[in-house]
Amino acid sequence: MNEEARKLASTNPIDPEFNPYPAWAEQRGECPVARLSDDFPAYLLLSHDLVEQVLRDNETYSSTSNAVGIGQIMGPMIVGMDGEEHRRYRNIVAYAFRPSAMERTEEQIVTPIIHGLIDEFEKDGKDGKDGKDGKADLVTQFTSRFPVRIIAAMLGVGDEDFDQIHHWTEEINLGPAHPQAFEASRKLRDLLTPIVEDRKQNRRDDLVSDIVHADVEGDQLDDEHIYGFLRLLFPAGAETTYRASGSMFAAILSRPDVLDRVREDRSMIPAIIEETLRWETAVTLVSRITTKEVELAEVTLPAGTDLLPATGAAARDPAFVPDPDTWDPDRPMQPHLAFGTGRHQCLGMHLARAEMSTALEAVLDRLPNVRLDPSCPPPDVVGFAFRGPDHLRVVFG
Ligand code: HEM
Repeated sequence: MNEEARKLASTNPIDPEFNPYPAWAEQRGECPVARLSDDFPAYLLLSHDLVEQVLRDNETYSSTSNAVGIGQIMGPMIVGMDGEEHRRYRNIVAYAFRPSAMERTEEQIVTPIIHGLIDEFEKDGKDGKDGKDGKADLVTQFTSRFPVRIIAAMLGVGDEDFDQIHHWTEEINLGPAHPQAFEASRKLRDLLTPIVEDRKQNRRDDLVSDIVHADVEGDQLDDEHIYGFLRLLFPAGAETTYRASGSMFAAILSRPDVLDRVREDRSMIPAIIEETLRWETAVTLVSRITTKEVELAEVTLPAGTDLLPATGAAARDPAFVPDPDTWDPDRPMQPHLAFGTGRHQCLGMHLARAEMSTALEAVLDRLPNVRLDPSCPPPDVVGFAFRGPDHLRVVFG
């Protein structure tokens, strides 16, 4: 590996501005199993085949690495469990995400929240009596706002300060080295306590009641597991969907030909969403730890080695798709790994897709002739472990 690539690879992994893809492409060419940095004894997995192999083998590659990281802040978490414990817990919570519940969520929660946010900034376009276009920043006014409100509404949280909740969620993602992450986690639990206590007494037809009263094979969850699951939904469901939605709008608005076509032909929307998730997955890395000595791509890794299967790098592997750095919604759809695969595959993936689809339909319907603001710099997708654009300034009308 040349000096420049080595420097890039060992860059602080939480640097939000760092784009890992050029270094990962170079490293993959040399060896798809790469030590993260001299100071950080974890190994990145950079090819599609290796990432898929590791995510599908839960016995050799344990998820407990998640429990020792963010699990310290969040309490018992489904993403940090293995084997029988994970199977039973997932069966209990998966019920709340069954397709009929998600359909109802889309109709009663997702659609009104998305249209409500557009109501707030769309007026600017209509006020233009002098014929001026409306303006908006689709990240700060839209994509960063609807996912956290949707999770909050699903959990029965009323009219709260959603920007504050979003801020706590971001603090949790800073990890256990940051004391404010623990404080934020406690505040989220305090927010949920009256709702959980109420649903224990008064069962309703909602997600919290489903979790509190879930009964599978005679099991019910204790408080630690109830809060562990409910609180996880904020970082798992909001931070991810917000960034994926921003990347989707950045891609489409940068391709006016695609924008014109999808305005007329909404059947393109599923391909647009899947290609966005492949091209710029919101979470580029997941975490595993080896339970025994293994050999991957001729690299011997002892038991207890931390692995970072890079779902982002897998999606950019030229052995998986040709011309992988290009966003191309016309390419044949491939099953990507953005939502993981195997037993821990994302529980919220249908919800995430529904949110992205509803948001795109709504923007196309409500913001006539929406396009990038030519007076602003073009959007840039940024970040290392979490990726998305910071701003997306558009004009419409
Ligand atoms: C575009 C948006 C999203 C992306 C890219 C994403 C990505 C992922 C990935 C890669 C995993 C697997 C982690 C692993 O194998 O260690 C995962 C798991 C999970 N996700 Fe998502 N996710 C998204 C949206 C959501 C939403 C909206 C929710 C819920 C409201 C959610 C809830 C979960 C949960 C609970 C798990 C743990 C499943 C388990 O461990 O069995 N995610 N997600």
